[in-house]
Amino acid sequence: MSKPVRVAILFSGRGSNMETLAQHLAKPDVPGQFVLGVSNRPEAGGVGFCTRANIPCAVIDHKAYDTREDFEADMQKALASARIDLICAAGFMRLLTPEFVTHWHNRIINIHPSLLPAYKGLNTHKRALDDGAKQHGCSVHYMRAEMDDGPVIVQKHVPVHADDTPDTLATRVLAQEHVAYPEALDIVLEKLASQQP
Ligand code: GAR
Repeated sequence: MSKPVRVAILFSGRGSNMETLAQHLAKPDVPGQFVLGVSNRPEAGGVGFCTRANIPCAVIDHKAYDTREDFEADMQKALASARIDLICAAGFMRLLTPEFVTHWHNRIINIHPSLLPAYKGLNTHKRALDDGAKQHGCSVHYMRAEMDDGPVIVQKHVPVHADDTPDTLATRVLAQEHVAYPEALDIVLEKLASQQP
């Protein structure tokens, strides 16, 4: 079977969601191909994963740029030269401009460690604990110009335990992220694959 959809994964750190997506995309019946990793941090653990997995990785260090627009212009060049169809943000911790997100409308998705629209932004696990939330979780959503906004594709809930710390809660949520992201990717890939010429 052909692999019509060319996927880039954007990350900034450890890269466990990228690794999960890479394993999923390696399955012969999944109609997408992981062709490019993009990291804004040279020291990100995910860079090593790309090297070991033999996946090209564009390291585009945001600190080397004066403006967000110049940084994104180089990302766009890397994405265009790899002929990317779909971007998956997986722990990519730079805000993207509305222009960038609009350019990739419905072809850029993100994973966020909360049940959106609850807890947009950072420190989601601590904020859920501080609020006494009984349920927490993760969301995979289409990106829109507003941060952590856009239609939700898949959500997974986890219980919050009385003795949770932000770290124990993060671990429980991350395990569900690794279930949610492949599920969401399948939904999006099916849609995109049916639109390919
Ligand atoms: C994940 O928990 C992801 O949901 C979160 O960063 C972590 C990356 O882990 N993303 C955000 O907070 C985005 N706002 P990973 O590098 O192991 O995939």
